[in-house]
Formats: sequence, C-alpha cells, structure tokens
Amino acid sequence: MPFSHLKPKVKTILSNENEPTAQRLKEVCELLQSSVGYYDWVGFYFANEAEKTLHLKAFAGEPTDHTVIPFGKGICGQVAVSNQNFVVPDVKAQDNYIACSITVKSEIVIPLFKDGKNIGQIDIDSHVEDPFSAEDELFLEWVNSEVAEIL
Ligand code: SME
Repeated sequence: MPFSHLKPKVKTILSNENEPTAQRLKEVCELLQSSVGYYDWVGFYFANEAEKTLHLKAFAGEPTDHTVIPFGKGICGQVAVSNQNFVVPDVKAQDNYIACSITVKSEIVIPLFKDGKNIGQIDIDSHVEDPFSAEDELFLEWVNSEVAEIL
C-alpha cells in the first residue's frame, strides 16, 4: 500500500484537540501535498446547503480565486450533487471545469460523508497527466472518513 505510511500521520494530526478543526485540516493538506509527488494542490471544500455553494476551508499549494463554488459548477460542484468520486485524468477533456492554473493537468475530487450525507469534499490538482489510481481513491476516501469523525 503506497499510502499506508501516511495513515498514522493523518490520525495524529486529526486527533490533536489543541488545534482548531480548520488548522488540523490545513495540516492534513500540507502533509498530503508534501508527501505525494503528484499532489500539487490539496484542499477541503464544505457545503452550504442553504446557499447551494461549496466553501474552501483549508488548503495547501498556490492560493486559488475559487474559494466559493456553486453546486453543479466545475468538477467540485458536480461532486456536490453526484455524491460520486470524480477522477479527471485530463482536465482539457472536461467542459464543466473551473481552471485554477494552466499548470494543472489532472484532478481528483472525493466526496466527504458525515452520517451518510455529502457535506464536502477533498480536491487534489496535479501537474502530472493521468496520475490517479484506485489506490488514491481508496486512500482519500479513508482520509475523508477520518475527517468526518472530528466534525
Ligand atoms: N478545478 C476545480 C476548481 C477548484 S480548484 O481545482 C482549486 C473544479 O473544476 O471544480
């Protein structure tokens, strides 16, 4: 398992009750971004159900203009309504895509469920074309399930 060595580190960060939740999420983003070569930008968005928007709560990588994303818009907004993992091997092939940087080639977005409800997501951009495998999906699903426990 290429990601197994990261799991105890994720658990340690998330269990640090001395830090506010947003800080712990930021540290998870930083851990993943610095540990996985093709994870160039890592962020957590959370849903505002009343407004039907996603809001960026924590990230690592270049700052983005896209801190608020309407449901349905871009890869992130589509995942807010589909409740499904969305793996994009080549962002150029997507019509409904919000470009953050011309250096981004691929993206993966995994919904985050709390008590069975899709409340947010982890979003990862890569400068590498087609880098994501089922291992990434499984690992990121695991990360989200751990995050859900502290929310
Ligand atoms: N590319 C995303 C927007 C968020 S940025 O990747 C940080 C999308 O299409 O939803």
